[in-house]
Order: sequence, then structure tokens, then C-alpha cells
Amino acid sequence: MARINSSAELEEVRAAILSARDPNKPCISICAGAGCVASGASEVIAAFKEEIVKRGLEAEIDTKGTGCPGFCERGPILVIYPDEICYVQVQPGDVPEIVSSIKEKTVVERLLFTDAATNEKAVHEYDIPFYKNQERIILGNNIKIDFKSIEDYLAIGGYAALSKSLFQMSEKDVLEEVKKSGLRGRGGAGFPTGSKWEGSSKAPSDIRYVIVNADEGDPGAFMDRAVLEGNPHSVLEGLAIGAYAVGASEGYIYCRQEYPLAVENVNLAIRQAEEYGLLGDNILGTNFNFKVKVHMGAGAFVCGESTALMTALEGRPGEPRPKYVRSNIKGLWQKPSVLNNVETWANVPLIINKGADWFTQYGTATSKGTKIFSLVGKINNTGLVEVPMGVTLRDIVFKIGGGIPGGKKFKAIQTGGPSGGCIPESMLDLEVGFDELTKVGSMMGSGGMIVMDDETCMVDVARYFLEFLTDESCGKCVPCREGIRQMLKTLTNITKGKGKEGDIELLEELAETAVEAALCALGKSAPNPFLSTLKYFRDEYEAHVYEKRCPAMTCKELIAFHIDPALCQACMVCARKCPTGAIIGGKNMIHVVDQEKCTKCGTCFEVCPPRFRAVKKISGEPVPPPIPEEQRVIVRGKGKGAAENE
Ligand SMILES: Cc1cc2nc3c(=O)[nH]c(=O)nc-3n(C[C@H](O)[C@H](O)[C@H](O)COP(=O)(O)O)c2cc1C
Ligand code: SF4
Ligand code: SF4
Ligand code: SF4
Ligand code: FES
Repeated sequence: MARINSSAELEEVRAAILSARDPNKPCISICAGAGCVASGASEVIAAFKEEIVKRGLEAEIDTKGTGCPGFCERGPILVIYPDEICYVQVQPGDVPEIVSSIKEKTVVERLLFTDAATNEKAVHEYDIPFYKNQERIILGNNIKIDFKSIEDYLAIGGYAALSKSLFQMSEKDVLEEVKKSGLRGRGGAGFPTGSKWEGSSKAPSDIRYVIVNADEGDPGAFMDRAVLEGNPHSVLEGLAIGAYAVGASEGYIYCRQEYPLAVENVNLAIRQAEEYGLLGDNILGTNFNFKVKVHMGAGAFVCGESTALMTALEGRPGEPRPKYVRSNIKGLWQKPSVLNNVETWANVPLIINKGADWFTQYGTATSKGTKIFSLVGKINNTGLVEVPMGVTLRDIVFKIGGGIPGGKKFKAIQTGGPSGGCIPESMLDLEVGFDELTKVGSMMGSGGMIVMDDETCMVDVARYFLEFLTDESCGKCVPCREGIRQMLKTLTNITKGKGKEGDIELLEELAETAVEAALCALGKSAPNPFLSTLKYFRDEYEAHVYEKRCPAMTCKELIAFHIDPALCQACMVCARKCPTGAIIGGKNMIHVVDQEKCTKCGTCFEVCPPRFRAVKKISGEPVPPPIPEEQRVIVRGKGKGAAENE
């Protein structure tokens, strides 16, 4: 590949790539993201290659492995261009039929997405309700490009924004455009990106750095991974534009080591961009030099925090330090350093290409553009969703997420990762934005969204997140190291039925201290899960502490299972399935639960046939004594239940 030495040459290369491609030639884009690979995408890709060779169709049909388009739950997923026919849950055995359908210009109906609610099938990707209600300005490109091919990125207009910045805009113009766009950081705090860049560019120094935060420590979140793995050039292009705007000649990508594919793809992308002259010295023939290095993080959650990340980049243990001076003024090796999240950087080429006014058409008054969320938990359509800011939580949960499985009731949505907050049903019409979420006691965080149904105990949820944060605290400051641990201890006691009067107030006090006095945002925001659940579900805390009752019936120490003798039909299913042999029964014998042996696994409750529903789950009340042995015999045909048997 030849070096590109001017803006005109870039357009020539792009034109050459496009003219060598026939837009009408069918191309099968198969997601090769981690989720789809786990459900067999590699085998599907291999089967397509084999089938196409077997039929001698290499010149007629293209295939490509791509990044994740978001609907991982239905993977392996593929889209056939140019018609954009989308198939879900494709298996290697489906491949011959799909290849035939391309030749015959037909559709394989059984592989289309079927909407469970309406039974309607969606032929195109954009017809699927999950996608229909999204605005995928970033994620939408993933399925169009082979992440190993810079030519694919150039074909969709890649590096045009870098070229525009270098040839048509001054450093200040770029900065002003980003400021005007209102872009705020997608990694957590939502700090205005343009102001951060401006601070760095004005800080007196001969050296400046730009850094990508690809640590993504939130459990269950994988949006940064999807962007970095699936479209690494979009992040590199954004980073190079940022470097130009602030006057940096070195950049770093701090990526967690658990993302080996992202590291591999971005390293390859860097090499390709350098060969084309889009990174390195004299970029596009100008005097702008910019080199990028990838650094693998060791996987500690706290290393995602800006100062800890920079300390880790310097080769020292990643621990936060006080921010008397912001990192954009004195950061990596004490030099001005702009740290932004993967998604933040990926937005930059779009803003430069299409303009700030285009970007601000999406969003609320103070949150512009789109945001990628990782939608998980008790929701029908899990995966990555990209929505314009301002969309309501209700739309995300019900229109995009398809509602709660099993006809259960929505209870809360947790946003903002482990230190975010839980938002109750009464606030489902809240518009999603940085300030909107903070106002109700939660936060945007990096975009984790966990949906909870009515079988979720909110006290236990708070305990779970505090457990994670206690493990991840670096231990440097007391309010976090000791305070959060003490909160966890108290919450654990409450969920075990050992809560006592004054515990809730003690928790509030500890939370307040951590918010005020912890050194970094891990400790400062760690009380959020507790504070938000207390605010919206106080009755659940009180039931646990004062009535030793878990209203959601999930805290094991506070629940019990027993069998209603009037309903048991001695079908023996529960006794056979009980893992601890805690169910005493037999043919024609009403069954009883031996409370001593019962581990409260809930299996009997699940397996007792719905027409009997004899197993009862109770909390906060005494377990009824088992009926005497002599009254357990069921005489068939004479009615049911102990009373009638006598
Ligand atoms: C404990 C902790 C973990 C964090 N983890 C991440 C992370 O994984 N990725 C990220 O982009 N930001 C993370 N942040 C936020 C960063 O400190 C920083 O604000 C962000 O990377 C700045 O980029 P942005 O302005 O583009 O959001 C974390 C913050 C804290 C306190
Ligand atoms: S708040 Fe927690 S994670 Fe942050 S510096 Fe203090 S101990 Fe470490
Ligand atoms: S809850 Fe589990 S252990 Fe207890 S009786 Fe039922 S199946 Fe057995
Ligand atoms: S499964 Fe239900 S009906 Fe059958 S023996 Fe157990 S409790 Fe009785
Ligand atoms: S990994 Fe394939 S859709 Fe997400």
C-alpha cells in the first residue's frame, strides 16, 4: 500500500477502492464479535467460505467478518448487502440454504427475526424493533466493515474528517467545532470534551498527550469493546483529530488485557494507518506527526479512573491521586494530557465531518448526540443499544428491549455501572441525559443498564454492588477502604435477617462520609446504589430490618418453602428434583418439606406443576408445621387434601 501524501490523494485512494467494488455484488457481513463467536459465528464464517468455494461463487459473493452490531442475544447474526437482509441465530447447517437464496433472490423466512409480541417477521435489519428505535451513528457502521480492513473504513468515508481538519481547519477551528457540538465525555462524569481539550491546548508545555480510556471495568458493559474491536479506525481517527487540535504528537490507548481481540485489532489498525501515512510522521503530507501506542491494563476497576490510569501508564501501580491540578493541565508525566473514553473519541470524526449543528440535533438541552448502552438483566432483548440522548427509559426498556421476560413486572433500572443508582417504575418517563440521571440519584456512567423485575430485592442489589466496589477499592483512603466495607457488612447483615434498629441511619451516615471525604470518584459514588434504593424502596429496607421479611422473596435467610397440604397432589416431581432430599413424600402421600435439610434453592417452587401450585414461598411469617404423617395419605377419586382423606 502506498503512502498518501495529500487530501486529494486520499480521495483518489477512496475512489479507487470504491470503483473496484461492485455495490450490487452480494456481500454477507457476519458478526465476528465476542458474543457471536461464543455462539458459533466462526464456524458459520468457515461454512460460508467452504460453500462459496464449493459452488465456485468466489467472484459472485463476498463475505466478511465484522464487529458487533449490538443484538448479541440473537447471534450469530448476519446481514446480506445490498438488500440488507438480516438473519439471526444462524448455524453452519443453514449456510447452503442462505447461499442458494442469494442466487435465487429469495429470503430464508425461518432465519428472520420474529417479533414475539406480534409474530411479525422482519426482513431487514432496520425493520427489527430492537434496531428500529435506535439512532446508530456509531455502532451502525460495525456491520459494514471488516475490522481488519482499513480499505473498508476508507470506503465508508474514513479519515475524511482528519483530512478536513488538517487541510481546511485550524487547530482552533477543530476545538471550536467540538465545543460547539456540546460533546460530553461518554466514560462517566460527562465532562465537556471541548473544554477539556481547550485546557490542555492552552497549558504551557512542549509536550502534550492524548489518551483513550478503554479500560471498561463495569461488569456487563461491552460498548467500548464493541467500538474498539469492530471499528478501531474510528477511534484512531478521533484521537488523531484531538491530537491535532491540542498539539499532541503522542497518543496512548489504555485497554484492559481481558480484551485481546480489541488490542489485536487496534494494533493492526495502527500499522495499516501508518503505512498509508494517516498516522506517524508527516500525516497526509503535512508537518503533523502523531504516533499511537497501545498499553494493556491489568484489569483493576480503579485503573479506569483518570489519575490512576495515567499512573499505570507511567508504569506504576494504578492508584488515584488528588486532583489539585486537573490531568488535562498536568497529567501523564506531568504533561497536559487529554483522556477521553473510546466512545467519546469515536464521536469526533462524525462531528468534524457532519458539523456540530448536525450533532446537536440529537439530545437534550445539556446532553447532545447519542449514547451507547449495554442493556442487560431481566429484559427480552439484551445487547448494545445506541439511542439519541433524551429518549425515555420506558422506550429503551419496552420499545427497544422488548419488555420483561415471562410476563413479569418491571421494578427498576440500574444505570451507571456499579456505582450508579436504581430508578423505579414511576420514573420510567425520565429522559436519558447526564443531568437528568444525576438529578434522580443515578448517573450515566459509561452506559451500563441493568433491568430488574419484581423478583429482585433492592437491598440485595445495593449489597451486591457494594461488594464489587469493596473488592475494587484500592485502599488508599479511609472513607472508602473502611467506610464502604462497613456499609457492606451492615447491608449483608440486613439481608441475612440480622438487621437492627439504627442500621439504616448508620448506613446513611457512612454514605454521607464517603461521598464527602473519599479521594476519588470510586469512593465518592460507591454509596449511590444504597442511597438510590433507600430513596425509592425504603419500605424494603424497613421490612428487612423490622419484620425480618424480604418483600421480593429472594434473601435466602428470610424466606422458607413449604407445601400446602390442601393443594399437593403427590405427583412426586418436587421430591425427585430436590437436590438435598429435603422433601418427604411418596406415591399417594402429601409431601412435606424438612426445613432442616432445605437449602432454599427454590427448585420445588419452580417444578410444582402450575395446575397444583402447592409449593409456597413465604417470608416474615412462621412456617406452618407439617401435617401429621397419618393425615398425609391421598385417596384418589375421593377428592383431595388431608381433610377429605379422613
Ligand atoms: C473507579 C472509576 C472507574 C472508571 N472507569 C472508567 C472506564 O473504564 N472507562 C472510561 O472511559 N472512564 C472511566 N472512568 C472515568 C474516567 O475517570 C474519566 O472521567 C474518563 O475516562 C474521561 O473520559 P470522558 O471525558 O470521555 O468520559 C472511571 C472513573 C472511576 C472513578
Ligand atoms: S476512594 Fe477508594 S478507590 Fe478511590 S482512592 Fe480512595 S480507597 Fe482508592
Ligand atoms: S427449596 Fe430446594 S432444597 Fe428446599 S425443599 Fe425445595 S427443592 Fe428442596
Ligand atoms: S410437585 Fe407439587 S403437587 Fe407434586 S408432590 Fe410436589 S408439592 Fe405436591
Ligand atoms: S457479538 Fe454479534 S451481535 Fe454482538
